[in-house]
Order: sequence, then structure tokens, then C-alpha cells
Amino acid sequence: MKRTLALRVNGRTVVVPEGAVVAAAVAAAGETRFRRSVTGSPRGPLCGMGVCMECCVTINGVSGSRSCQTLCEEGMEVRTDGPFV
Ligand code: FES
Repeated sequence: MKRTLALRVNGRTVVVPEGAVVAAAVAAAGETRFRRSVTGSPRGPLCGMGVCMECCVTINGVSGSRSCQTLCEEGMEVRTDGPFV
């Protein structure tokens, strides 16, 4: 049986399978905006392989973290309302 992990996305608890990336947890939390562009438009994952930087979020207080390249960890705190460009 696959283990699960609980983390928080914008204050909401999300349970994901071990091995899931943060982008999947953000989507599971119902968020469609991962960051904002310099003009304020909503942005979300595009490449899924660490190149485009459109999926950046704040993870445990570190802004600009690529959610598509970061594995979820128990108790992780993720925010999508950070000051990213
Ligand atoms: S989706 Fe492109 S870097 Fe994460």
C-alpha cells in the first residue's frame, strides 16, 4: 500500500501519495493560480520539467520554488500568493 503525506496549501490540508510533486498537491487543493506575472496575470505549470518557472510557489517560506520539481514532504507549507515574477 502506498503511503500518503499531508501538507498545507494556502492553509488547506491536502493528502497526496508519497512521491507526488508539489504542483500536484496545489492542483489537488483546487488552486489554478500558482503565481502572478509582473502584469498580475495568473500563471500555472506549463512545461512540467523545471524549465519555464511558471509553477513557482513559496515552499516553507522559500519563494520561487519550482513546484513541478519538488517532492511533497509531510507538514510542508505551500503558498501560492507570494510575490513572484
Ligand atoms: S512547470 Fe515549468 S518549471 Fe515547473
